[in-house]
Amino acid sequence: QRNDRESMLAVNKFAQQYFSSLLFDSSEGRNIGLAYFHERGFHDDIIRKFQLGYSLDQRDAFTVSALSKAYKKEYLIKTGLSIDRENGSLYDRFWGRVMFPVHSLSGNIVAFGGRVLKKDDKTAKYVNSPESEIYHKSNELYGIYFAKQTIVKFDRCFLVEGYTDVLAMHQAGIENVVASSGTSLTKGQIRLIHRFTNNVTVLYDGDAAGIKASIRGIDMLLEEGLNIKVVLLPQGEDPDSFAKSQDASQFISYIEKHQTDFIRFKTSLLLNEAGNDPIKRAALIGDIVRSIAIIPDHIIRSVYVKECSTLLETDEKLLYAEITKYQNGHT
Ligand code: CTP
Ligand code: MN
Ligand code: MN
Ligand code: MN
Ligand code: MN
Repeated sequence: QRNDRESMLAVNKFAQQYFSSLLFDSSEGRNIGLAYFHERGFHDDIIRKFQLGYSLDQRDAFTVSALSKAYKKEYLIKTGLSIDRENGSLYDRFWGRVMFPVHSLSGNIVAFGGRVLKKDDKTAKYVNSPESEIYHKSNELYGIYFAKQTIVKFDRCFLVEGYTDVLAMHQAGIENVVASSGTSLTKGQIRLIHRFTNNVTVLYDGDAAGIKASIRGIDMLLEEGLNIKVVLLPQGEDPDSFAKSQDASQFISYIEKHQTDFIRFKTSLLLNEAGNDPIKRAALIGDIVRSIAIIPDHIIRSVYVKECSTLLETDEKLLYAEITKYQNGHT
């Protein structure tokens, strides 16, 4: 319903302004929220550009304020900004957190993420808006509104995991960047990127678990016909922490130097793991074959076959046979 959507977007817009003005204009917001961002090395221009904010450490400060401005209970609930206690009274979803509004492609605010200031075991690090009429998480990418022009300009999109990774990359001068926000990549998110470019560079966290988990998502990118590169960051670093450990030009040259074609990356990663174990090597060939087989363009496919046959010390014909077998079984 059109009216619902518009009312929900209006509530979110109000909430963004409310959270942002608390961040900059209230003493709690400045002392806690803004100080937190500054401690992490984020500058005011980035904080303002991404319209970051702060939610007060009270159970219903936002809800009370929104109701007093005549925003309707119905839309506070539908956006997920307020939660119904079922006795008719509402409380806030976000409190005592720094706030990240999520902008749609057209710049509407469709959701929020809120981060705790001090991580402990009891509280979730991030609280996010629920799915709603205006927010289908699987079709949104954090940062796309601020990235789309630069993605087209450089014909490349950087893909990272988190909100702060997007901010840190912008601050380093890399604006063609979006985040999948933790969950594994979806078809809808991939198509959104593909509207602007064929070229994606994935910036992994520098740990094995992260890499393994992301490989599935990358196979989906290949299937969509995108060209994928990966940049492996040093152990334990994400793009944000890594960007902060050096100056912007060093960060950018690291990325340029370490961008590796995905199939090549995956092949050497798996080769490393398999060592000389013949069974593991056979499984690995099957795994690589699957990634190559889903690439829609046959010319690109043949380039990979050539290269992988060298890397894997395997006959090209055998690889083709495996690819055909997989494609027949697969479609
Ligand atoms: N995420 C989430 N809920 C959580 C943890 C993570 O929604 N409980 C999402 C957030 O979008 C987050 C992303 O997954 O940005 C990546 O998670 P993580 O690497 O844990 O957080 P960072 O983005 O690195 O955040 P920070 O640097 O503030 O710790
Ligand atoms: Mn294309
Ligand atoms: Mn992580
Ligand atoms: Mn991270
Ligand atoms: Mn981080």
